[in-house]
Order: sequence, then C-alpha cells, then structure tokens
Amino acid sequence: MAQIGSECDLSVNIGGLSLPNPVMFASGTFGNIVDGYPFGNLSQLGAIVPKTVTFLPRTGNPVPRTVETASGLLNSIGLDNDGLMGFIGSRLPILAGIGPPVILSIAAKDEDEFVKMAGILDEVPDVSAIELNLSCPNVAGGIDFATDPHKCYSLVRRVRETFRRPILAKLTPNTADIVGVAQAAAEAGADAITAVNTLLGLAIDWRKRRSRLGGFFGGLSGPAIKPVALRMVYQIAHAVNIPIVAAGGIVSLDDAMEFFVAGAMAIQVGTGSFFRPTAAWEIIDGLPHALQEMGVCSVREIVKTLRGPKSKQGC
Ligand SMILES: Cc1cc2nc3c(=O)[nH]c(=O)nc-3n(C[C@H](O)[C@H](O)[C@H](O)COP(=O)(O)O)c2cc1C
Repeated sequence: MAQIGSECDLSVNIGGLSLPNPVMFASGTFGNIVDGYPFGNLSQLGAIVPKTVTFLPRTGNPVPRTVETASGLLNSIGLDNDGLMGFIGSRLPILAGIGPPVILSIAAKDEDEFVKMAGILDEVPDVSAIELNLSCPNVAGGIDFATDPHKCYSLVRRVRETFRRPILAKLTPNTADIVGVAQAAAEAGADAITAVNTLLGLAIDWRKRRSRLGGFFGGLSGPAIKPVALRMVYQIAHAVNIPIVAAGGIVSLDDAMEFFVAGAMAIQVGTGSFFRPTAAWEIIDGLPHALQEMGVCSVREIVKTLRGPKSKQGC
C-alpha cells in the first residue's frame, strides 16, 4: 500500500491536467482492470491509462501475440478492443469511478476517424485527456502519423480543433527523427508528449523458419529498450516546451528517477508490471525518499536536470 510522504509534493501538471503523482501504467499493459487489480490500490495512481481504443471493435492479431526476448518482450496484439462506444458504455464508468483522471488512448485508421473519435470524446467528461496512439507498430498504417512530422502536425492540429481537454501525442521510437515529430506535435497544439511506444522487432523459430508471433513483426518493450527511451526523452525534452510522459523499460524507482532527470514530468510502467506487478506502487512509495536524497521536495525540481556531456557522440 503506497504511503505518500506529506512533506514531499508529488503532484505534477501534464499540459493542464493535474495529477496527484507522476506514476501511471502504460497503455495496454494493465490487463483488464475493470475486473480489479489484486496487486495495489488503483486509486493511488497518478492517472488511469487504458488500452488503446479504436472506433470499431477489433479482434486483434493471430496468436501467439507475445514472446519473451532477452531483457524484453515482443508483442503483436493488434489493438484488440471493444471499440469506442463499447468502451464508453461499459468500461469507462468503472475506470472513471476509481478516482485518478482517465487518460484515454485512442488510435484510428486515418485522420478523419481520429477527429471523429476526438469529437465524440469531447462530449464525454469522464475522459480527462486523450493520448493519441500515433505509433502502434502492429497495425497496418498505424505507424505513419509518428514517423512523418507533416502527417503528425496535420493530425494533431485537427484533433486540437476538436477536443478541448489535454492531448498527449504518443510517439514511436521507430523513426530517425523523433525530435522532429515531437516538435510537430507541440507546434500543432499537443499538450504533452508520451515517449515511447515499442521498437519494431522480430523473433524467429529457425527450425520452423517462422516468426514466433502470429502477426510476424512485433513491438519490443521492457528493460531492453530503456536506454533508447532515455536517450529519446532527453532529446525531446531539449527540443519542446511541453511536458513528457516517459515509457520504456521502467520497473524501479531508479528507472523512474533516471527518466525524470532526463526530462520526463511523469512516467508509465509497462512491461515491468508483468514481472513486478507492484512496481508502480513501489515507485510512488519510494519517490519522497529519493527526492529528499536529491535535496528537493517536488518532482518538478528534478525534471530535466541531467548535467550536459562533454560530447554527445555514442561511438
Ligand atoms: C502487451 C503490450 C500491449 C501494448 N498495447 C499498447 C496499446 O494498446 N497502446 C499503446 O499506446 N501502447 C501499447 N503498448 C506499448 C506500451 O504502452 C509502452 O509504450 C511500451 O511497452 C514501452 O514501455 P515498457 O517498456 O515499459 O513496456 C503495449 C505494450 C505491450 C507490452
């Protein structure tokens, strides 16, 4: 059970959305939380981020959908979900009743569908913010918006004109120019960046000469991708003036603190919760002590405080 130290201020503001603390689960890694979660009190999270919802229901990709890799997980779920109206009618009331703000992750097949969904959600007050999943590597077409700054700008701009509450743009690491895409999202009116989604990968059963995943390629997540995510959060933080919500291999308090120092204002625990289901609460519990150790009393004071390198070359 998380005990939040009264002398430390764990609250953060994500583009106008006030959160009691900066810790949440990453979209799609939380299981079916309407059935309850036996490992911690959900009302103590900073926000609730459900699995990405699409306009129409989707059955997802063929099995197997996940395979373990070295220090990571490769998944190809394919956005299996009940569709927007199914979500609003059945799951949202339960999730909104938990307490923390609901940040709803949405994905769509094209710009018009994103805008249509944003318009519907604008009339749904239980959704405090939307996270645009611009970057799912397991769905045809799902990756385009976050690899091309122009497409990202155009989409975020139209959603911005439609949805009046905070918008988080969730980016893919599968691009050479994540900074350019982040800048495009910020210029178009996104209130925050979520970085990052999974890294496109492949796992092979060489005896069968087949991919180990039914969907062939998959998205790599977990500790294996943390250094990449840290580097990207650092670079984005130095290029935009909106808050960053970090995801990518976070499972411990140390991981979380590294991301805050790199430039994140909040963090998401994803794959880490599969092998350490209490991780999110351990981070919330440990934060006051870690902040005291740094000589500060709020998360905001350590964000983007990484000391500059003599050289930024990796090799
Ligand atoms: C099984 C699984 C399902 C996921 N589903 C979604 C999803 O529906 N929407 C989304 O934006 N990201 C999804 N992700 C990506 C995570 O939200 C997160 O961005 C990524 O896994 C990196 O964080 P991690 O290394 O802590 O898992 C999924 C990841 C996994 C492992």
